[in-house]
This record gives sequence, structure tokens and C-alpha cells, in this order.
Amino acid sequence: MSEIAKIDVNGSVYEFPIIEGSENEKAIDISKLRGLTGGITTIDPGYKNTGSCESAITFLDGEKGILRYRGYSIEELADKADFLEVAYLLIFGNLPNAETLEKFKQDIKEHAVVDEDLKKIVDAFPRAAHPMGVLASLTSALTAFNPSSVDVDSEEAMYKAIVKIMGKFPVLVGWTMRKNQGMPFRYSDSSLGYVENILKMMFKKPGEKYVQNPILVDALDKLLILHADHEQNCSTSTVRIVGSAHAGLFASLSSGISALWGPLHGGANQAVLEMLEAIKEDGGDTKKYMAKAKDKSDPFRLMGFGHRVYKNFDPRAKIIKVAADEVLGDLGVEDPILDIAKGLEQEALKDDYFVKRKLYPNVDFYSGIIYRAMGIPTEMFTVMFALGRLPGWIAQWREMRLRKEPIGRPRQVYIGENSREFVKINRR
Ligand code: CMC
Repeated sequence: MSEIAKIDVNGSVYEFPIIEGSENEKAIDISKLRGLTGGITTIDPGYKNTGSCESAITFLDGEKGILRYRGYSIEELADKADFLEVAYLLIFGNLPNAETLEKFKQDIKEHAVVDEDLKKIVDAFPRAAHPMGVLASLTSALTAFNPSSVDVDSEEAMYKAIVKIMGKFPVLVGWTMRKNQGMPFRYSDSSLGYVENILKMMFKKPGEKYVQNPILVDALDKLLILHADHEQNCSTSTVRIVGSAHAGLFASLSSGISALWGPLHGGANQAVLEMLEAIKEDGGDTKKYMAKAKDKSDPFRLMGFGHRVYKNFDPRAKIIKVAADEVLGDLGVEDPILDIAKGLEQEALKDDYFVKRKLYPNVDFYSGIIYRAMGIPTEMFTVMFALGRLPGWIAQWREMRLRKEPIGRPRQVYIGENSREFVKINRR
């Protein structure tokens, strides 16, 4: 028998079905609440208790530290699959066979060009512009160069839009970084794999041959997989809600990029490095910063620690930590920043404040360290996150449209002034 929940409002009892997901997660379906109760709503700032949708893409269990894309564990995918294979899995629901994957890769390569006129837009930005602002603007500008909206009911049209954005986005990422570094723009090299091509588009210097380092290619591939989706986080919910108004795919993605930029979300990887730099400049006293993080009158937070959902450990952080050791070992990097990071990590893991609140290093604590070792400028870190998250955003947007979800429109509890009469300016 299906379970129900009852809400008693001043003696009137209302019943609501409890729905169950495929991993036995339960949710009270309150979609009829307002109708039944004559207008009573719920309030849940930050949506800590609110499910916004049913989704078949990503499962995560924050208590047990489980993360799965379409049923496959993140550990197995990071170990055995490549980024585009995972992108296909997320977007279309199943792992591709060799032929389908090859076609997907080729189709993406074919679209790895952007209109030359877009360069004029990049040129107009000041060089010091934050790369996330530039990337969000360029992604939005793609709409102007590809004006037709996607017919979501046509599989062919959807597929075309998907390979288009998957192809063009790395070019935009490359241009964003080269603008920031004052380097000439480059196009895609179709002889290379997706990740190799990204590295070359970012780093190739004029007049020099770019030599790929397979360890870096592998590490970046892994990082992109680890960031590829994370169910209904801030930027993904943004993409879904913007798309729910039937805004186009590129416009919805652009808003996701803006949401990701925030330091409490994707911007944390940049914030981690800036924090480590600041600690170094201040003499490297990690204990002082631990104390600041615990002091409630001090707004300082230990960036890269804590997670809304993971309350035991972040499975992505575990994988990245190993990758970070490999990359640093291979490159022979010795960096005082890393010693500070390790010191903070060790202190936090045995500190009562952090243990009680279940605050563990998250994915962003280690990703910034790898990016830094790779030579990626700090301001580009969140752009790298966006590059990885792109297939997740697309998958969620597509799912939302295919399920014909209604426009997202939360309610509020109004706490402002009651009705009052307008007073003319000369009498105020
Ligand atoms: N440093 C110090 N104290 C912290 C931290 C931190 N990084 N994170 C949480 N707390 C404390 C917080 O002050 C609160 O204490 P109390 O119960 O005494 O009031 C308690 O822990 C719970 O914190 P919360 O803010 O209610 O937790 P949340 O679930 O709303 O926030 C978070 C999650 C990730 C925004 C937060 O932990 C944080 O700001 N972390 C630093 C930023 C960061 O690393 N973000 C990246 C997240 S992973 C990438 C992604 O998926 O976006």
C-alpha cells in the first residue's frame, strides 16, 4: 500500500501521497497543497528540504558518499570511461557503443568552430575581465549566431544542438583564457581528442610546437568527468528554471555559468587558491585561519570545506586527491601552497568544530591544486568547472523539456507593508 503523509491545519487534516524514487528516497508530494488548503504554501529557504523535480540522471547519497551517473559509479566512470563517453551517457541515458561514440566525437569536431564575428565581442572586453563573465556572455552571444530555437520534440534537432554546443564551448573557453593572457586566438585541431584539443587551444604559444603530456590529458579528462553532473545544485537548478520558461538551450546554459561563478558554488575552486595564497602571504600560519573559520563573528570560511549534500566525504574529492598526487609527482612540483593545503586538511579532519559539522574537503579543495600545477591561471578555474559541467546542464535541460515540466515559479510569504495610501511628494 502506498504511504501517505497528513498535515493537520487547525483541526482539518489533509492527506498527501508519499512518492518513492528508484533508490527508495521518499518525498511528500505537496503539489495539491494550495488547492486543498485554500492557499497555504510551504517555505524552505535554500530549498534544503524541497525536491524540484523527478530526475533519472544522477543519484547521490550524501551520507554514504555515493555518486552515480545513470546508475554507474563515479569511481568506475573516472577509471574506465572518457569524458565524451560520460557526456553521451548523461545526456542520452546509456553508454554509447563504439560506433555511436565515434559518430558523437566526429559530430562534435565538425562543430568546433565559431563565427569570426564573435571575436569582435571577445575583443571588446577589457583584458582584466573575469573569464566567467566573458564565458557567460559569449555563450549567450552564441544565440545571436545560431538564432533558431531547438525543437525539443525532434531527436535530430536536439542532437544537432547538443553536438553544436559541445563543439563550440571549448573554443570559447580557449578564447576566454587567451584573452585573459593576451594571446592570439586559436581554432580547434581536428586531429586531436577532445581534451588534448582543449589543452592545445588554451596553451599553444605562437611559433612553438605544443607537446601533450599524457598525464595532464588524463588528469583533465578525469576532472571533467568528476564535474560533469551533480543533480539539482545551484547552477543546474538555474539552467532548468530558465529553460522551464522555454528559453533556448544556449541562453539557459549562460545563466548556469553565471550561477556557477559564485564562490559558494563553482567559484570555490578559485576561492580556495586565493585563500591559500593569502595564508602564505600572511606567514603560513594555518592555525590562525582555522581559528578564524570557527569564529562566528568572523565571516571567513575555510573554502573547499563543507558541502550541502555530502556529510561524510565527497567521493569526487577522494578521486581527485589521488590524481593531484600523480600530477604533482609527474611534474615534480614543489609548492609551499600545497604544504599549506595539506596542513589545513590535516588540522580540519581532526578538529572538533569541523568533525561535528561534518565538514570535509570537497571537490574544489583539490581541483584548484591540479589546475595550478597544470599552469591554468587561478581566474580560469571556474571556467574549467563549467567545461566539465556542460553535459550535465544539457542533460538536465533536455530532461526537463522532454518531461514537459511546467514553468518554475516558486511562491513566497509576503512580509512587507500592508496596503497604504500614496502620499504626494510635496506632502512627504
Ligand atoms: N568553514 C567554516 N564553517 C563552515 C564551513 C566552512 N567552509 N562550511 C560550513 N560551515 C559551518 C557553518 O558556519 C554552520 O555552522 P553553525 O551550524 O554553527 O551555524 C555549519 O557549518 C553548516 O553550514 P551551512 O552554511 O548551513 O551549510 P550549507 O549546507 O548551507 O552550505 C556550503 C554548504 C558548501 C555552501 C558551505 O559548506 C560553504 O560555504 N563552504 C565553503 C565554500 C565551498 O567550498 N563551496 C564549494 C562546494 S562544492 C562545489 C559545488 O558543488 O558547488
